Amino acid sequence: MTAAVLGVIGGSGVYDLPGLEDIREETIASPWGEPSDALRIGRIGQTKVVFLARHGRGHRFSPTGINYRANIDVLKRAGVTDIVSLSACGSFRNELHPGLFVLVDQFVDRTFGRATSFFGNGCVAHVSFAHPVGPALQKRIAAAAEAEGISVHKGGTYVCMEGPQFSTLAESKHYKAANFDVIGMTNMPEAKLAREAEITYATIAMVTDFDCWHPSHDSVDVASVVAVARANAGRAAQLVARVALDFPAEREDCPAGSHRALDGAIMTAAAH
Ligand code: ADE
Repeated sequence: MTAAVLGVIGGSGVYDLPGLEDIREETIASPWGEPSDALRIGRIGQTKVVFLARHGRGHRFSPTGINYRANIDVLKRAGVTDIVSLSACGSFRNELHPGLFVLVDQFVDRTFGRATSFFGNGCVAHVSFAHPVGPALQKRIAAAAEAEGISVHKGGTYVCMEGPQFSTLAESKHYKAANFDVIGMTNMPEAKLAREAEITYATIAMVTDFDCWHPSHDSVDVASVVAVARANAGRAAQLVARVALDFPAEREDCPAGSHRALDGAIMTAAAH
């Protein structure tokens, strides 16, 4: 059996995890370079929880500058089996209003120039990624939200842009017309790397703004993102705490295959 360990990656406005107990900080070395911060390892109830601030404390790393490979690698080395990603996002739908949490189930990757894989020449691998979010983990988040009386929207497509500038009006309208639901700058390649590391991944996309397409709302700016993210960080921590309290001791199989993503994925022959 594999012991379940819950990883939590905190995005903009979420630099720690209230409710985490018996905390020790650990700096784990990675051959992929420097992660964003030291891990904060503790427990919530009986569940081991490992927290990482995606941008580092003090928000030092830009979406492009984050070393996603090192972040996922150190979480893996800490034994993390499942990641809940807390991520601020803009919304393309009226009903997905600021303050709402969206449990996205799809991603579109519009980033460029980021290192998106642990594999490459020398060891070639292709993992399945049709279903990037772990359905069982997402169900747990939905159940926890219900138990805590926190409203969430189930399902949606998150488009990940490179940034760091926000979208132009034309881009924003284009993403809306494409039926994308929310936009952020960080969940890719994070989710891809988690899959390659055989870690189950799910995102709580915290809507902070209507990007810039909405005729009756101001265009997104940092002040509004930070204000809404901070205002909702407590509810996010409450939701994660409930997920942790109800988490199984043993790792569950992921219906999307995250727990065995590398089975049959490696193309390179052992000896050649
Ligand atoms: N993060 C929060 N709001 C965003 C937006 N509108 N675009 C990209 N990333 C975001």
